[in-house]
Amino acid sequence: MSALSVSPLRFALSKGRIFDDTLPLLEAAGLVPSEHPSESRKLRIPSADGRVEFLIVRASDVPTYVQYGGADLGVVGKDVLNEHGGEGVLEPLDLGIARCKLMVAGPVDAAELPQRPRVATKFPKSARAHFAAAGRQVELVKLYGSMELAPLVGLADLIVDVVDTGSTLRANGLEPIEMIAPISARLIVNRPAMKVRHAELSAVISELAAACQLPESTQESSQTES
Ligand code: ATP
Ligand code: PRP
Repeated sequence: MSALSVSPLRFALSKGRIFDDTLPLLEAAGLVPSEHPSESRKLRIPSADGRVEFLIVRASDVPTYVQYGGADLGVVGKDVLNEHGGEGVLEPLDLGIARCKLMVAGPVDAAELPQRPRVATKFPKSARAHFAAAGRQVELVKLYGSMELAPLVGLADLIVDVVDTGSTLRANGLEPIEMIAPISARLIVNRPAMKVRHAELSAVISELAAACQLPESTQESSQTES
């Protein structure tokens, strides 16, 4: 295909869950990374066929790389995409992987909440929107991980975090209170690149859509989508 005569498409992925869950889809689409990031310190990993170059970035940086064209496309959790806001990116595919739920959680058998509870979260934008929509006043405390610890040490009354099996909540004496949104990983594409490299990107989108057996629809990403 003509893509081989131009630079490879740059495809942003984060190490760990997103890379591991995306790998079978990439393989089904014929885009096999030449190395696994857990076995390499390289941050640019070509696909075996040279069509794409995988960029290994932090999960929360994937939308930024794609927004500014540092990457042409990427895979990111909808939780992270909503926090970013989705400016400048298209969201053509729900890949249906890395499924979890964004939830409000709190201590089992908690005393009555204060009038303005403190909520610890890595997702302040989504949390603010959720509580505002319910007309509830909260004080948000931004954390970058281990949210489940915050209520245990008096840092917060509640947390907003992603929950899958619920085992992390249970292990820390917490319980789910309400769901904010179902979450799964999305394929995102740089908006200008979709015009300039339409044929190559459409081919990759179609191949990945076939791999995850979902219908594709190129649509603007937005905070309100779930
Ligand atoms: P960062 O390095 O930027 O802090 P992270 O450590 O949260 O990111 P991962 O743990 O790899 O990154 O999670 C990537 C995505 O996988 C999340 O954005 C979310 O959509 C999803 N996810 C997180 N935890 C789970 C889970 N327990 N089960 C299923 N999916 C999850
Ligand atoms: C995520 C999330 C929760 C946990 C939920 O953490 O932040 O702590 O998964 O999953 P569960 O409901 O199945 O227990 P992760 O394992 O990614 O660790 P990290 O965020 O500290 O990297």
